[in-house]
Amino acid sequence: MSKFFALIPAAGSGLRMENNLPKQYLPLAGRPMIYHVLRTLCRSPGIASVLVVLAPGDSEWLKHDWSEFFGKLVVLDCGGTTRAMSILNGLKAAPDELSISDDDWVLVHDAARPCLSEAQLDKLMNELTDDAVGGLLAVPLADTLKRSGASNRVEHTESRKGLWQAQTPQMFRYKLLVDALSRPGSMRMTDDASAVEALGLHPKLVLSDARNLKITYPQDLILAELILRAQQKGEYGECG
Ligand code: C5P
Repeated sequence: MSKFFALIPAAGSGLRMENNLPKQYLPLAGRPMIYHVLRTLCRSPGIASVLVVLAPGDSEWLKHDWSEFFGKLVVLDCGGTTRAMSILNGLKAAPDELSISDDDWVLVHDAARPCLSEAQLDKLMNELTDDAVGGLLAVPLADTLKRSGASNRVEHTESRKGLWQAQTPQMFRYKLLVDALSRPGSMRMTDDASAVEALGLHPKLVLSDARNLKITYPQDLILAELILRAQQKGEYGECG
């Protein structure tokens, strides 16, 4: 039986957050942002270990108490200059004691998506466990799309038919992910599925919802805090 591992690339600087503290450490609901996904992933009984990839020389990690995750958490300080490089470095640096085999699943999840719920995680793992390729959480596009021309004037309206917004976790088998990310060109890709698609494969889209939002701008923190508080109070329904 294939095992499940999670990997969190957390070596970014989060420039768009207008803050000197890297995004993954910004305070959110009383904790550093990355705490919330670590909790969700480490508490999942299906996940064998959670690897976190930090930037070399990260001085912030050790300022916080991670002891509740001992036994499940593996910290690697081999982040690269792009998200894809951080992930590839982390996959290659996974300690031998974890005995990750080529067919084991790796769920790559961004530290910048702190509101991932247990239900969303379980849904992804259940829907893909027997899949030949793997896939990702995603949401069908809801807004009307405008193509801009000069001076932010609308050139035309794009069809949103068949368009989805990719989220994380993105779940692929260990060897497929290493092979896909090792190809020239993969280092600039903004998600893992794109690298797998470049091999001619078709990852599966698993229906998620907008609550698994990505923190990109300061205002996203307000929404994330509301979602986390609702989760903590048990007001968070099933996804999809
Ligand atoms: O910057 P962005 O929000 O797209 O980053 C997505 C995720 O990739 C974040 O968790 C960030 O820490 C991580 N990342 C990384 N190494 C980089 C750049 C981003 O691990 N060089």
